[in-house]
Amino acid sequence: MPITLRSRREIEMLRNAGRLVAEVLSKLKEYAKPGVSTGELDEMALEMAHEAGAIALFKDYPHPYMDCPFPGAICASVNEQLVHGIPSRKVILEEGDILSVDYGVKLNGYCGDAAFTTGIGQISPQRQKLLDVTDGLLKIAVENMAPGVKWSAIAGMMEAEAKAAGFSVVKDYVGHGIGTEMHEDPKVPNFVSRELLRNDTVLKEGMVLAVEPMVNIGTASVKTLPDGWTVITKDKKCSAHFEYTIAVVQGGCEVLTPWDQLG
Ligand code: MF3
Ligand code: CO
Repeated sequence: MPITLRSRREIEMLRNAGRLVAEVLSKLKEYAKPGVSTGELDEMALEMAHEAGAIALFKDYPHPYMDCPFPGAICASVNEQLVHGIPSRKVILEEGDILSVDYGVKLNGYCGDAAFTTGIGQISPQRQKLLDVTDGLLKIAVENMAPGVKWSAIAGMMEAEAKAAGFSVVKDYVGHGIGTEMHEDPKVPNFVSRELLRNDTVLKEGMVLAVEPMVNIGTASVKTLPDGWTVITKDKKCSAHFEYTIAVVQGGCEVLTPWDQLG
């Protein structure tokens, strides 16, 4: 499928959706403290989408092969859970945990998708390093995305940075194009493969990508729990996930979901 290039008007629409995602995520980040459940965070996120007249994209998202649509508005993934954790009133955050929150909306027909990982109370230096390194990979993308740049060049830098820190980049999940659908072409991996080199994406003005590095302290290998959704690391060591929706614009790029730049 060809990659859709978005007009300035469409990027304005995507910016509005992205702004809502950023506002919700920054509120959840502030609220996530020891004693709070991931179910409460989910309820806040659903309510904020509805108040704004938006659709929470993850809620009731069909499972690829099981009869169990995703029940939450957010994915809430704690410690060794890397993505697609199911939020619940029974999952109470504890001091020292790390929590990833992933959230997406459709507002007036246009989508935004973003994620952060944060420490709950005081966390270990190793976990803090994991958060800093993974957030750093996302910043590498933002600093380098511009018309004419090959995605493989950026993916190579991200992968090298994670490896230099002694961590591993997840290969089983990748970022994606985003627009009027949450998942559009192209695939946006955080590592270089023969497949990427054979079918590289040269960035163009108007491309909009959800860039979402996932980094593990230990092995890159992952598995899905019997609930059909929750993905964990095979060695149960911690994983982090950061994501922005980013538009390629003349001379560079623009973060459409600046959840860490509000206020
Ligand atoms: N941000 C995730 C993605 O890009 C969210 C999908 S979760 C689901 O795929 F519940 F919607 F599946
Ligand atoms: Co995404």
